[in-house]
Amino acid sequence: MIEKKKIIKFLDLGKQPLANSFLEKKNLNNEEFFYNLSIGFNPNNFLVSILNPANPKKQYTNKYAHRASQSKTMRKKFKETSIKLKNRFKPKITLEIGSNDGAFIKNFNKKKCVAVEPCKNLAVITKLLGYRTYDKFWDRNLSNYIKKKYGNINLIFSANTISHIPNTKETFDSIESILSNDGVLVIEDPYIGNVLRLNSYDQFYDEHVYIFSILSLSNLAKKSGLRIFDCEKIDNHGGSMRYYLCKINSKFKETAKLRSNLNEEYLLKFNKISTYKKFSKRIIKSKKKLINILKNLKNKNENIISYGATYKSTTVFNYCKINKNYLDCIIDTTINKQNKYSPGMHIPIISPEKGMTNKVNYAFLGAWNFNKEIFQKEKLFFQRGGKFITHIPYPRIIGKKKINNENYKLFK
Ligand code: TYD
Repeated sequence: MIEKKKIIKFLDLGKQPLANSFLEKKNLNNEEFFYNLSIGFNPNNFLVSILNPANPKKQYTNKYAHRASQSKTMRKKFKETSIKLKNRFKPKITLEIGSNDGAFIKNFNKKKCVAVEPCKNLAVITKLLGYRTYDKFWDRNLSNYIKKKYGNINLIFSANTISHIPNTKETFDSIESILSNDGVLVIEDPYIGNVLRLNSYDQFYDEHVYIFSILSLSNLAKKSGLRIFDCEKIDNHGGSMRYYLCKINSKFKETAKLRSNLNEEYLLKFNKISTYKKFSKRIIKSKKKLINILKNLKNKNENIISYGATYKSTTVFNYCKINKNYLDCIIDTTINKQNKYSPGMHIPIISPEKGMTNKVNYAFLGAWNFNKEIFQKEKLFFQRGGKFITHIPYPRIIGKKKINNENYKLFK
């Protein structure tokens, strides 16, 4: 649980709706739920967290919109990861916590895996494919139940889920109790190192209760008898870290990669509040600059849309108060986001076919984490003089020439 008293607040992102609460037209005039999104740092365990986490039962419902399998990039990455983990650890039985629509678990033999996904609309997808899927929240009871049924687990995988669960103690305790003695827990979550370097304050929204570092995750894991023995920087979701954990007394030795990444965290002072206070100052500047860019373009009557109805862009739009006065629409390929309205700012979301017309000359990169895929897809847009706007790592306009020069490097 978040130890509120010890946490030092360093960033206030203002009133925010739940990032996933896309609205139907008929509900636009209904009262919307807002909360204050503040971010804090705990000087005792170096953990960065949001200060008022929402109730997971309100967030992970049977209307959950994010579908991991709908992204070509993510399908490919999960496939590669599954091969890598199978080769390295040769698990007899694998458990995935937060299996979404099966993008990862589908790469495993149905008889050798178990999936846990509390959003019933997603769990049903893997259930129908014949995967043993529990549509429940991961907790002590579920862990005990699965252990009784299938025994200890050799490999537990969890991508973009552990950072979503407020009660880290129960989460890790329940993992420790089901993990076999030489079993491995692999976690992927957005990494604080990338957030600090890219000024990606939009990684903070209600679902991202924590943005981990190796330092902070080690401290949490230790309390439940687990330790990190390896890690890997990966570019998923705008920059993440893959952590490999085992039981405290397990056979795995700490790798050189873990030590060098940990040293880097000390060098960059991830354990000091001053680092986060400086970050906060950069974010206030980022907001001003982004609004200025949009105002100037609007004064010239440019047509601007947003690319990707991401949860991240919910934070940006509500923090910077970017609404229909600036953006004509948001385009997104996800069917269940289309014909809805963005949380808080009520910008219409439509399909790329309808929204990416010849009139559009600027597109804000809501899905900046997929910039490479998008730039490749939008060659025609560039050719006819179209430009992207991004706030990563600082607000600016990107045309064809810049992309060639930068070779996407600035986003990494
Ligand atoms: P995602 O990466 O899950 O970000 P977040 O976690 O902040 O929501 O979302 C990416 C969104 O962008 C998803 O809704 C699909 C959309 N998208 C497009 O519409 N077109 C594209 O070409 C790509 C790559 C993504």
